[in-house]
Amino acid sequence: MQKIRTAVFPVAGLGTRFLPATKASPKEMLPVVDKPLIQYAVEEALDAGIEQMIFITSSSKRAIEDHFDRNTELENELRSRGKFEMLDMIRHLVPDGVSCIYIRQPEALGLGHAVLCAQPAVGNEPFAVILADDLIDGGEQSCLGQMVDVYAKHEAGVLAVEKVERAETSKYGIVSPKPMYERVSGLTGIVEKPAPDKAPSELAVVGRYILNPDIFEHLQTIPKGAGGEIQLTDAIAEQIKHDSTVLAYEFNGKRFDCGSKLGYLKATTEFALQHPNLREAFHSYLEALCKGKFCK
Ligand code: G1P
Repeated sequence: MQKIRTAVFPVAGLGTRFLPATKASPKEMLPVVDKPLIQYAVEEALDAGIEQMIFITSSSKRAIEDHFDRNTELENELRSRGKFEMLDMIRHLVPDGVSCIYIRQPEALGLGHAVLCAQPAVGNEPFAVILADDLIDGGEQSCLGQMVDVYAKHEAGVLAVEKVERAETSKYGIVSPKPMYERVSGLTGIVEKPAPDKAPSELAVVGRYILNPDIFEHLQTIPKGAGGEIQLTDAIAEQIKHDSTVLAYEFNGKRFDCGSKLGYLKATTEFALQHPNLREAFHSYLEALCKGKFCK
């Protein structure tokens, strides 16, 4: 089996839903408690054994490169103040031996186009795609780690899916599943953002993919799809038509849609409640708050 060595992080999007917060800083740098969303995504990739991180960026995303780069001024300052734990933390956001590659997406032509921009760096091997907007708390094993295990069994593409309300299907890629065993289904089709009455199921793709490299051939040839963009979903549909096996995996864990304000607030609350230094004080605060004037 080919190891999944590479993860692609499409981070070129504008993040208009969080304006004005995202006017001058990338939405992927929004913090949940004390870490930016993109760092959670990178940590998930590291947990799954990824060694090469490819960020598909745009001109307004310099802060992401800076975040994973050395900051010698800050390092010197922390050293001179004796803050060695903090120094070690900021120096090893990405461990030694793991490489970060940044590729500019020249135009906002959609998720499929962003993934196609990664082709020269990915080469002819299977790879992962992580959308940092979808923050997933996998519990004992990260969502991508679980998916790598499924890939190891089948060597087929693996998409993370979860059940959504039928009214919500028009926000997601929706799969036509053929159940195989617990949590795993074969895909007979997939469609991007169908209206509720047209959706083939209520199983929605969330922002984690393991893809075989034949995806690139299809990304090169498919026409623009939903929203006038090159859709990754449409290229996956082509893979299925061309007999490439793709599986849907109902992951273990909880997803937070941090592309929406409500999802972001839920993530912040639940991660704060798990944070060793905050848990107790934040819990007491929430309890008091709920008994007070904000309680209906
Ligand atoms: C993208 C994909 C969609 C997927 C979703 C998951 O949509 O195109 O198929 O279900 O991510 O978050 P976006 O949220 O970028 O519109």
